[in-house]
Amino acid sequence: MQVKTIIEPFKIKSVEPIHMSTEAEREQYLKTAHFNPFLLKSEQVIIDMLTDSGTSAMSSEQWAAMMRGDESYAGAKSWERLYDAVFDLTSMQYVLPTHQGRAAERILYGHLGGKGKVFISNTHFDTTRANIEFSGAEAFDIPIDEGKNHTVFHPFKGNMNVIKLEELILKHGADNIGAVILTVTNNSGGGQPVSMQNAKDVAAICKKYKVLFVLDCCRIAENAYYIKHREAEYKNHSYKKIAQEMFALADAAVMSAKKDALVNMGGFLTLRNEQLAEACTNLLIITEGFATYGGLSGRDMEALAVGLVEVFDDAYLNYRIKSTEYLGEKIREKGVPVMYPIGGHAVYIDAASMYAHIPLHEYPGQAMVCELYRLGGIRCVEVGSVMFGKYDADGKLIPANMELVRLAIPRRVYTQSHIDYVIEVFDEMMKTRNTVKGYKITKEAKLLRHFTAHFEKLQ
Ligand code: F0G
Repeated sequence: MQVKTIIEPFKIKSVEPIHMSTEAEREQYLKTAHFNPFLLKSEQVIIDMLTDSGTSAMSSEQWAAMMRGDESYAGAKSWERLYDAVFDLTSMQYVLPTHQGRAAERILYGHLGGKGKVFISNTHFDTTRANIEFSGAEAFDIPIDEGKNHTVFHPFKGNMNVIKLEELILKHGADNIGAVILTVTNNSGGGQPVSMQNAKDVAAICKKYKVLFVLDCCRIAENAYYIKHREAEYKNHSYKKIAQEMFALADAAVMSAKKDALVNMGGFLTLRNEQLAEACTNLLIITEGFATYGGLSGRDMEALAVGLVEVFDDAYLNYRIKSTEYLGEKIREKGVPVMYPIGGHAVYIDAASMYAHIPLHEYPGQAMVCELYRLGGIRCVEVGSVMFGKYDADGKLIPANMELVRLAIPRRVYTQSHIDYVIEVFDEMMKTRNTVKGYKITKEAKLLRHFTAHFEKLQ
């Protein structure tokens, strides 16, 4: 018998109670948090969709592996296990363990960057861009045009525009290109996948001009799912084999293990070039730690090594992608303007069209994250003008390209009934959408203001 229902492919061994707050309590919590969900306490949240990063539930095998953690300063067995798992996947000889993704970024892009250097990506994640710009270099995003239109279907909206890639390399000169970075899946572009063909095309151009090709691979297993199901040539490949093939195309990779390695903290940098690896290892030792542990304890390396294997399990990936799609499709049926198709780790909503009556300088995305919290205790993040807006010389807002709200789904944490609860909250979100008011910022930091800003609700 072929059963259509997809179940969570795990049993729950340890549970974390959720405090079921009331709407009246949440209104109070929201006021105390100055209408910024980042300032809420986690116990005030019913369903936490702020991020899929570092929020995974670890498996019994990962917890068991942690007991094997070898905490020796140098040459620990746990390091050997992590090295073997990473090498098996990436085929890159040099592996540098870091405490999370941005530490790997700072080491690599800090070394390759500097004034006059240029980095090119399908879309730089914000910490990637920040590390590049902090070095004095410039970062250019060149997603394909379909990637910017969130109503049309395209199987690989995360692809890089390879015509523009070649133009940019020629314009700036190959010697001035710090690296070309392919982010899989493309987080800032809506969690959309990158095809193997696109990765091959990017690799060929990088090879032609002798430019370093880096994979930002924190969601590479989720990306492999889409390749298997949307790129005919790969339909009989295993997810792991697809990932191995993609790594084989690249010269280097940075990974935030907090995503597809199913751990709460960790990351790494892998390289093929010996000289580059030596330079980066020196930087690793200065700020992260010795080469055989970097930013990680032995037990962290053990859990990471197991997570890298578990994430490629067929049943897990099927459940993961299908459950994200389930949330997206169900709220789309209710008329919620979601980015389409649904990406791997999150559902993105176009707040500017949901709340067309709220002008951009009154932050429709912020209004939506506050409403989702007020009505359902659901915490998520605005990815719009609060996060990326700038001011002109007269203090007028220059809005972001899009006013999105991201509902990110932690791995192996919520069951279908949690997701059905979120879907039901959207009934009320749709009913009351015309009455929702905008917000003004009353306090903000100069950099990355979304984390700490205070807001006031407009009347
Ligand atoms: N690259 C990508 C594509 C990411 O999504 C992230 C983090 C990083 C690099 C940085 O890794 O957090 O371990 O230092 N993304 C998280 C998110 C924060 O919520 O999307 P990190």
